[in-house]
Amino acid sequence: MRLAVLASGYGSNLQAILDAISRKEVAGQVRVVISDVENAFALQRARENGIEALYINPRDYKDREAFDEVVSGQLMERKIDLVILAGYMRFLSPPFVRKFRGRIMNIHPSLLPAFPGLNGVKKALSHGVKVSGCTVHFVDEGLDTGPIILQEAVPVLDGDTEDTLHERIHGLEHRLYPQAIQLFIEKKLRLEGRRCIRFEG
Ligand code: GRF
Repeated sequence: MRLAVLASGYGSNLQAILDAISRKEVAGQVRVVISDVENAFALQRARENGIEALYINPRDYKDREAFDEVVSGQLMERKIDLVILAGYMRFLSPPFVRKFRGRIMNIHPSLLPAFPGLNGVKKALSHGVKVSGCTVHFVDEGLDTGPIILQEAVPVLDGDTEDTLHERIHGLEHRLYPQAIQLFIEKKLRLEGRRCIRFEG
């Protein structure tokens, strides 16, 4: 299975996926890491792991669709089976989503549908929730609205700051994302409307 990771930042989820691959817990190969941020640490991680790292500058293209078309061209050229968004700070245009429908995953640091979009951890904390968590979901045309694959909760503690809560959530993410990817690879996920059902294929 040919995987691509799209990331804009630190890339700790990318690292968790690469580690899971080397432990043989994920039966796929990351063929390319693409970023819209030139100095994203995720690109450096890719290079250090001998994986092609591609920076595509959004300012070189007239709009989101034109940029996404270049990204999807790169993915198709490499015959990518699954597109993994890991801290990718861009909203995907509808044509991109159509091209890879059912083959794009995202991870979000809240229990969706609560607190979608930017600053999910901060929003959960300032809302005063007692439980938060993370969600792995398929990507559709909405903002963090696609069918949920896996979800897990963490308690919000009285002394939590955005950083401490995000750190706890990151710990979950690093375990959950590789699991969701492996379920996809093993074809153990089936969609029934909005519900993503897990079955033994
Ligand atoms: C994660 O918290 C993820 O849920 C969100 O962006 C963050 C990316 O972290 N989409 P990293 O770059 O993988 O460390």
